[in-house]
Amino acid sequence: MKIWIINGPNLNLLGLREPEIYGRETYGELEARIRAYCENKGIEVRFVQSNHEGDLVDAVQQAYFDGADGIVLNPAAYTHTGIALLDALRAVPVPAVEVHLSKPEEREAFRRVSYVRAACIKTITGMGGDGYLRAVDALEEHYARRH
Ligand code: DQA
Repeated sequence: MKIWIINGPNLNLLGLREPEIYGRETYGELEARIRAYCENKGIEVRFVQSNHEGDLVDAVQQAYFDGADGIVLNPAAYTHTGIALLDALRAVPVPAVEVHLSKPEEREAFRRVSYVRAACIKTITGMGGDGYLRAVDALEEHYARRH
C-alpha cells in the first residue's frame, strides 16, 4: 500500500507557529513520526508540503499517477477557500482523508467551511499530529475492505 501525505501552507512552520494551537512538534518531527508509523505497517509513504495552492493540486494529481492508494490531506488555510483542491480530489479515484491539527469548527467562523470535505471519506480534527496516524489507519481499513 502507498499513501501520500499532503500538507498546505504554513505547516512547514509547525513548532514555531502558534504552539498554543498547533503544539510544539516540528514539521520534521511529525514527518518522522508518520514515516515510522507507516514503515512499521509496511506502508510506503511520500510527503509533500507546499505554501502554494497549485502545488497542492499538482500533488493530488501526481498521487494518482504514482499509483497511490490513499491521500492524507491537510490543506491548512486552503481548506476554507480551495475549490480547485476539491475539484482535484473529485477528479482522481484516490480515497482521501482530511486532517486538521486543531478543531477549525470551534475557531473563527471563516474556518467552519471546508470545501475539500465533500470529496473525503473521513475528516479528523483536534487530535494534533496523532490525527495523521488515525488517517493512515482509516485509509488502511478502507484499502483492506477493497482488496
Ligand atoms: C489547520 C486549520 C486551518 O484553519 C488553518 O488555516 C491551518 C491549519 C489545522 O491543521 O488545524 O493552517 O488546517
